[in-house]
Amino acid sequence: MTEIPRDTLQEQTFYEQIGGEETFRRLVHRFYQGVAEDPLLRPMYPEEDLGPAEDRFALFLIQYWGGPRTYSERRGHPRLRMRHVPFRVDRAAHDAWLSHMRVALDELGLAPEHDRQLWDYLTYAAASMVNTQD
Ligand code: HEM
Repeated sequence: MTEIPRDTLQEQTFYEQIGGEETFRRLVHRFYQGVAEDPLLRPMYPEEDLGPAEDRFALFLIQYWGGPRTYSERRGHPRLRMRHVPFRVDRAAHDAWLSHMRVALDELGLAPEHDRQLWDYLTYAAASMVNTQD
């Protein structure tokens, strides 16, 4: 069996390790299926078609985890907290958002270590997006 040098493996980005664009597209698509059915979250999304929002979020995650930088080419600096200011992100919205993300992540069936890394980031990011106290 050919041995792959350790450092070659480590040079792979997280994006590549979990399967690249396809994996992130699947994650975000499943997440938005949850949002589309959610009575609290769905009305927060300004556009009738959730497709463009799904695309922006997928491109953001792809860029964040080491994939192509298409998000910033199209949208500029992420400034995510600022971009969420128009929306009422309270504890309930935070919890609903994370619950759909958990379902989507479970369906990917990633290796436990990859799952944990992504989930840690998402829970941290979601907490930092809260802009309205109960
Ligand atoms: C905590 C609960 C959250 C709620 C309720 C929420 C809600 C929203 C809403 C209503 C939009 C506007 C949809 C659009 O037109 O694009 C949006 C956009 C976006 N959200 Fe969130 N969000 C949350 C957390 C997060 C987190 C944790 C991330 C990143 C990990 C994130 C990333 C984004 C991105 C990238 C956009 C598009 C920004 C742009 O380029 O305009 N959101 N979010």
